[in-house]
Amino acid sequence: MRFPPAFLDEIRDRVPISSVIGQRVAWDRKKTNTSRGDYWACCPFHGEKSPSFHCEDKKGRYHCFGCSVSGDHFKFLTELEGLSFPEAVEKIADMAGVPMPVRDEREERREKERASLTDVMEMATAFFQERLQGPEGAKARAYLRERGLTSATQQSFRLGYAPDSRNALKEHLAAKGVPKADIEACGLVRHGDDIPVSYDWFRDRIMFPIPDSRGKIIAFGGRALAPDALAKYMNSPDTELFHKGNVLYNFARARKALAKGGTVIAVEGYMDVIALAQAGFENAVAPLGTALTENQLELLWRMAPEPVLCFDGDKAGLKAAWRAADLALPSVQAGRSASFALLPEGKDPDDLVKADGPEAFRAVLADARPLVDLLWMRETAGGVFDTPERRAELGKTLRELASRIRDESTRYEYQQEMRERVQGFFGSQRGPRQGRQDGGRPGERGKAPAPGGQFAKAGSGRIAITESLGQSALVKRGGEGMSVREATIIVALVNHPPLIDENFAHVEFLDLANSDLKKLHAAILDAMAHDAADERSAVIATIERAGCGVIWERAVELIKRARQWPALETAALDDARDAFNQALHLQRSARTLHRELKQAQAALDADPSDENFRHLVEIQAQFNDVQATEALIEGFGVSSGRVGRV
Ligand code: UTP
Ligand code: MN
Repeated sequence: MRFPPAFLDEIRDRVPISSVIGQRVAWDRKKTNTSRGDYWACCPFHGEKSPSFHCEDKKGRYHCFGCSVSGDHFKFLTELEGLSFPEAVEKIADMAGVPMPVRDEREERREKERASLTDVMEMATAFFQERLQGPEGAKARAYLRERGLTSATQQSFRLGYAPDSRNALKEHLAAKGVPKADIEACGLVRHGDDIPVSYDWFRDRIMFPIPDSRGKIIAFGGRALAPDALAKYMNSPDTELFHKGNVLYNFARARKALAKGGTVIAVEGYMDVIALAQAGFENAVAPLGTALTENQLELLWRMAPEPVLCFDGDKAGLKAAWRAADLALPSVQAGRSASFALLPEGKDPDDLVKADGPEAFRAVLADARPLVDLLWMRETAGGVFDTPERRAELGKTLRELASRIRDESTRYEYQQEMRERVQGFFGSQRGPRQGRQDGGRPGERGKAPAPGGQFAKAGSGRIAITESLGQSALVKRGGEGMSVREATIIVALVNHPPLIDENFAHVEFLDLANSDLKKLHAAILDAMAHDAADERSAVIATIERAGCGVIWERAVELIKRARQWPALETAALDDARDAFNQALHLQRSARTLHRELKQAQAALDADPSDENFRHLVEIQAQFNDVQATEALIEGFGVSSGRVGRV
């Protein structure tokens, strides 16, 4: 019987090839790296003394560098053990714990029908290819040339042209003896009760044949040549062969390219895949005009553990990225994740490689962010977290997100990571499990003991306050190195000068703690004073003239490390504005609190009166509010019981 390819793929995926081969050979201990799934042995196919036979679980293949045999699970069993193919399949299915498919006559008949349909699709592909080269194809050829596709590329993707005719293909196929029912079943004509005479589905379009995972053509995408066509792209309808949501364009070729290493890249369009291939990125695939589906994600994971999902760097692209992130989130686990690459605004991969070359796209890939970054960015980029309630809300959202992950240990890691990020962002310096309880160790700071009298009791409280203040980044970060918050403000302003204009008053009176950022701020003010604050390049020039180029680079570096993309040059202005406002709000409340606490502390130092003490306690209470929220956020995933204790 014929085995469904999906069944063979499944059992092959489930059984590490090393466990099949390991039953026949002894692995070489020195060269083998089991944790990488990388095995070496003396070749069982030809006698030898030093191991040149290699197999790799990730690829599910073996290869001997001595006698050049190679193959997969089934080939090993048939060639070395002499099993028949069905016996080999049965053995691997058994090892995989997957039942053998039952012989199904109807299914087999359908399989045969499908085979005859793929023959028809093949004929159609050849027809379109020929027409592209013929006289009617002149316009299409010119178009493709203008879009920079070489004829080698056109041929390797088997591009074609559907003539502007209602029956060119239909008649061509009929003349070759293809039954009407097959032409209809292939989705090559429009037909139906309300259509008296069926007619060609694709007319006057550039044709992109869509191969299945084995390279057989199962559908077409067609791009209109006429700029006023109703739909720029049209796909084949779903047929017996083709289910739009289960197919990725270029899957087979990309999978082959992956044998050379690298990961799979998912982009949005046919032209992107093709332009990338021409530019040397043969590992790109695309969904077919719909948002990525769950099945397509599964296909990506069958190719690589961490596909790069590539989206346009505009609002719509970002939305699509978020949708994909939500889709992937429940299924992530070790060996199944995704990273996200955002293109410069207004460009797709095709535009980018054409305008700026492969290097530019490589840079976009190098900048790809893990899934966790994308989620974090979505939840924080638009918001302002200047009150305990708002921060609590953020904590809740992040907790809820992490809880969607089905794999337990991955879920735990996400919870941990989100908690750490919240701490980093709001500047708490405390470890996740140490509250303020460990803050009040008298004498630790080498200060004189508190005054006597009623302060004897209060004194320890006072040290506790000071300690917790010292630990809080609301205060501490401001006084020391560059904080992400302050860097966000400055970097967003420089990269997006419209923000300078919009926030004129705030920008003038920014109260920054870090002396380096103060210098950049001064340069911005200088640029404003000289009417040079409209253009990013002019602001940067002013910074460089002030000798602050290195500081600027450090600030940008910090922003990148903190994954505050919205402040970067490549972000959309709207996103930059959100990030800027959020950072500014936090900055203002942090600085105000900082000033008040310092004043209260100084007042108490100068005059240890009851009144001054009460004042400090009052501010401490406010401060506790902030800390309570932070603790609540940081406590997410541990237990809600902690919250009440703070
Ligand atoms: P784009 O509009 O980004 O087009 O659609 P593109 O791929 O960059 O094509 P060019 O460069 O204008 O030629 C991306 C993908 O969305 C689907 C197609 O699969 C397309 O490749 N699409 C787009 C449709 O299905 N229908 C449409 O009308 C437009
Ligand atoms: Mn395009």
